[in-house]
Amino acid sequence: MLVRLLRTYLVPYRTLLAAVIVLQLFGTLAALYLPSLNADIIDNGVAKADTGYILRTGTMMLAVTLVQVVCSVAAVYFGARTAMGFGRDTRAAVFHQVGAFSSREVTRFGAPSLITRTTNDVQQVQIVVLLTCTLMISAPIMCVGGIIMALRQDLGLSWLIVVSVTILVAAIAMIISRMVPQFRLMQTRIDVVNRVLREQISGIRVVRAFVREPVERQRFGAANVALTDTALRVGRLQAFLFPIVLLVLNVSSVAVLWFGAHRIQDGEMQIGSLTAFLSYLLQILMSIMMATFMLILVPRAAVSADRLMEVLDTESSVIPPSEPVTELALHATLELEGVTFTYPGADDPVLRNISVRTGPGQTTAIIGSTGSGKSTLVSLIPRLMDATEGRVLVDGVDVRRLDPALLHGLIGLVPQTAYLFTGTIASNLRYGKADATDEELWQALRAAQADDFVSAMAEGLDSPVAQGGTNFSGGQRQRLAIARAIVHRPEIYLFDDSFSALDLATDSRLRAALRPITRDSAVVIVAQRVSTIVDADQILVIDDGAVMGLGTHDELLAGCPTYAEIVESQLPAEAVA
Ligand SMILES: Nc1ncnc2c1ncn2[C@@H]1O[C@H](COP(=O)(O)OP(=O)(O)OP(=O)(O)O)[C@@H](O)[C@H]1O
Ligand SMILES: [Mg+2]
Repeated sequence: MLVRLLRTYLVPYRTLLAAVIVLQLFGTLAALYLPSLNADIIDNGVAKADTGYILRTGTMMLAVTLVQVVCSVAAVYFGARTAMGFGRDTRAAVFHQVGAFSSREVTRFGAPSLITRTTNDVQQVQIVVLLTCTLMISAPIMCVGGIIMALRQDLGLSWLIVVSVTILVAAIAMIISRMVPQFRLMQTRIDVVNRVLREQISGIRVVRAFVREPVERQRFGAANVALTDTALRVGRLQAFLFPIVLLVLNVSSVAVLWFGAHRIQDGEMQIGSLTAFLSYLLQILMSIMMATFMLILVPRAAVSADRLMEVLDTESSVIPPSEPVTELALHATLELEGVTFTYPGADDPVLRNISVRTGPGQTTAIIGSTGSGKSTLVSLIPRLMDATEGRVLVDGVDVRRLDPALLHGLIGLVPQTAYLFTGTIASNLRYGKADATDEELWQALRAAQADDFVSAMAEGLDSPVAQGGTNFSGGQRQRLAIARAIVHRPEIYLFDDSFSALDLATDSRLRAALRPITRDSAVVIVAQRVSTIVDADQILVIDDGAVMGLGTHDELLAGCPTYAEIVESQLPAEAVA
């Protein structure tokens, strides 16, 4: 998975990567050359008291160092650019993928997990790319080059390299194999903390109202402790690693000096060679250590890559049409043909074989008890989800074949829970139509009965809106959402229980103001109150996802017991009669 992710998203950075590799190669070669030069100075310059040789070789060393510094700095610079660019592209890809998800996929992953995946998981992979560019590429060159150079200095001590490398690798392997399983746990625990926190922040009023703070504090505490435990376990293993590496490093140095000294005494080795050998051994072990750090991070990044690919590989269940229809035969017509819908994982359908048709200038009301499937029905029309069976036709075309942009342009949806975005009232209303004039906005606000409270605000249309619109009352938010749909001027209006937070007088004024605006449009009103829908052209009564009746108020009153029951429960008996 990691490989696949990298292969896909590193392609645009091929040239940069190649540059990094070349630069690292030269930088590392320069670093490898230095100890040999140093040995030369000691053996040929110091030992023979040749100042000229020392100066010449010293200048050479300076030049080599300069090459190394320039190459390393440039490599890090390009490496950082590559890694950050990679991170940006991957984040964008995940973001777009999530944007294409229908509510079904979003529910499957859960919003908090999707947020962790787009931020933290991308970062994990990005870190690996960065370290690969800065450390990992030079490590193998350093290791192999170091071994070759060390052997050139002295063959007799080569067994020391074998021993110390073996011990180091064994120790590291043991620790890392214990660390890997903790990483997957860690990412899921970050998800949990995210989820708990998100739930608590968005539900803070409920939490306070029900005095659930202690319980919630405990819940967060538990998630937090779980994450801390895992992180600590990883940290403890990591802490082990460093001393072990240092121990091997230092014991090896002592061994080199010990055995090297004997060889020098026997005249088999020169002092310069010994210092060079020591430097090379340290370089070899350091490069193994650097590779180790990578090995710690790679499994974690692999876990993250899995989680990213899972998102990237998930096809939205609402598939955009391959050959979208852009020509419409009809105008403002909505038709449902035997629509059945089952939520994923549920046994029974939420909607059963619903057929209804509405045309321009017609108002269709949907009424039914809570949980009867009204919102589900409405969400099938703009394809927030797709019907499991049957067809939804807009202007005579199956919505699954309609161009999505065209479809959304035809529909003005006012969702049951009005959602406003951070910004101003004007910026929210212009969601419906980006180039709407202030006059159009005011017109829509007047129709939605929202002009009074908006004009009462000091900044009018430019009044700020907090995230989710929490600085407005439920009824105000609903009216702003209605105004937003009106600005859109759709052919089909969908009001999902949008009048429930309004008092009866405002409700009827709003519907009166809507009438001229929606003259050429189809209007679907989901309502709980009979008074909201008495004058609708047709009323669809649903109960438990099935159609109980379809007709006008009077027809239903006479022929549909379910409807009569609802009416009776809401109106005083004499008003019905
Ligand atoms: N995301 C979901 N996953 C599974 N089941 C769901 C989901 N959303 C809703 N349901 C189920 O579908 C049924 C209908 O829900 P829906 O929101 O359409 O009802 P409604 O008629 O709009 O109710 P209300 O009048 O309270 O708004 C409910 O019984 C609910 O349990
Ligand atoms: Mg609903």
